[in-house]
Amino acid sequence: MCGIIGYTGKEQAAPKLLLGLKRLEYRGYDSAGIAVFSDGKFSVCKRKGRVSELGGAEKLRGGCGIGHTRWATHGAPSERNAHPHSFGRFVLVHNGIIENYLPLKEECEARGEKFISETDSEVIAHLLEYYDRGDVLSAIKETVARLKGSYALAVMCRDEPNVLYAARRKSPLIVGKGEEGLYLASDVPAIAECRELYSLCDGEFAVLQGDNIRFYGEEGEIKKETMKLVSKSDIPEKGAYPHFMLKEMHEIPAAIANSLINFEDDFCFSGINIVLCQTEYIQIIACGTAYHSGIAAKYAIEALARVPVEVTVASEYRYRDPIVKKGTLALAVSQSGETADTLAAAELAKEKGATVIAITNAPDSSITQIAHFVLFTRAGREIAVAATKSFNAQLALLFSLATALAKTKGRQTPSLRPLPALAEEVLTEAEKMKEIAPILLGAKSVYFIGRGADYCTALEGSLKLKEISYLPSEGYPAGELKHGTLALIDEGTPVIAVLTQEGLAEKTMNAVFEVYARGGRVILVTNLPEYAARKEVYRSILLPKCEELFSPILSVIPLQALAYYTSLARGNDPDKPRNLAKSVTVE
Ligand code: M6R
Repeated sequence: MCGIIGYTGKEQAAPKLLLGLKRLEYRGYDSAGIAVFSDGKFSVCKRKGRVSELGGAEKLRGGCGIGHTRWATHGAPSERNAHPHSFGRFVLVHNGIIENYLPLKEECEARGEKFISETDSEVIAHLLEYYDRGDVLSAIKETVARLKGSYALAVMCRDEPNVLYAARRKSPLIVGKGEEGLYLASDVPAIAECRELYSLCDGEFAVLQGDNIRFYGEEGEIKKETMKLVSKSDIPEKGAYPHFMLKEMHEIPAAIANSLINFEDDFCFSGINIVLCQTEYIQIIACGTAYHSGIAAKYAIEALARVPVEVTVASEYRYRDPIVKKGTLALAVSQSGETADTLAAAELAKEKGATVIAITNAPDSSITQIAHFVLFTRAGREIAVAATKSFNAQLALLFSLATALAKTKGRQTPSLRPLPALAEEVLTEAEKMKEIAPILLGAKSVYFIGRGADYCTALEGSLKLKEISYLPSEGYPAGELKHGTLALIDEGTPVIAVLTQEGLAEKTMNAVFEVYARGGRVILVTNLPEYAARKEVYRSILLPKCEELFSPILSVIPLQALAYYTSLARGNDPDKPRNLAKSVTVE
């Protein structure tokens, strides 16, 4: 949800800002802009579209500047609404949402001030000018005290040409020291060259000047611990792959292998083992793909450990006054660790007395500051907006947790160890989706069906297809089709049926027959070859056998590939789907 960057130092700022913005583009790409201070004034270059549209921006001269890549919330994607925004002596970039910007804007307009954009962010520049009495940090403090909502802010003032000011509340912000200057950014890879990194917490401020970064909290100046430094593998590179999404799919076997946990064998999980022993009820809270991993986890945990699990979309959980009983464990699942709804839901679960375990792929993310315990999926950084390997990694970790919980109840559990090698096999088979994808091209809509654990795969397959191919699509429990959706099936409608649960196979096949009888084309993803050979099946993908409860970790791979190849066939950029961003830090 927007990426911000800042640099002040001995070298030219513009090339550094542009490089950082490129690395932040996964957060939004509706517009981009930079502002650099030179010759007593700010030079600003901003455009609608991606960072690559900022032709000529690299020529802006000056050693201090800020930049922004936008995911539009208030105001259309346009040059007028692009950041940086300026007023009076101030220029700024903002990530977040100012919920009370309308009354604040009216207040400024009543003073006769004119606004240029339709954004919520511009009002911050107006307030800064209003509150400035010669001390910029005080002006920033007074300004943010008026704001409701979330912000990561980078501010420059014309009177202090080489100083950067930063402030944070509920939007991530990192600052760092490099060899040749000081940086700030929404995320670590944007400033990977730094040799010292610090993560700002909510309510903190930083002032970057000369060789020094000074930090301030509510009470005054504070000291901060440095973060772990970035390794080269944290810097996103596509390598030989045409897209990050394809590269990340090929990293699935490693993501699974690295995210499996043997809870009993490692002393560092002793706290979590104690929690598991006391767990009587589980609430999983997450959004999007992470929510789907929660559904698969529910099937596995209930079957293996016989502990009841409720899975709720975080944006619903946070507003529905959930019941948290004694012995409730809340699992907050978030690849980015920054999803605003998941953070709020985790906070609420904690407030109501649940023990909260965060499951995230992002060390130092905001969710790690909320949860009692953190479990890291080790998928490696994921850049493509459509989640792939992080989903498989979440499943690996959640299934590990399911088996650990089952063991605390004295129950037998199947092994997870074969999964990485099996995923490797599935990746090869999934390439067949390149030939199958054209079947979807003329479709008005595409349906995904499955029963039991396969239902989760159907939901995730459908979400992947929607977000990168823009084809209307729905995922259903196979048994639900006949309760309404069957009316939408006509000649040639593609239906992707997932079938990996032997005991439910006949039942799912009933839905396949019903689709076939109405002219629909069934693409079957199964580990049961006898069904693939049926005349009602138009095309099939064969999966290796694995423990049925764990099958979504494999069966989703061909569906990820189907979405990828359909997106390409429709001429889309699978890494950067329209209207979306990787990290949803707004409500
Ligand atoms: O970072 P999170 O796991 O919290 O993100 C949740 C969703 O925004 C995310 O899974 C989204 O649905 C993906 N674009 C799906 O591919």
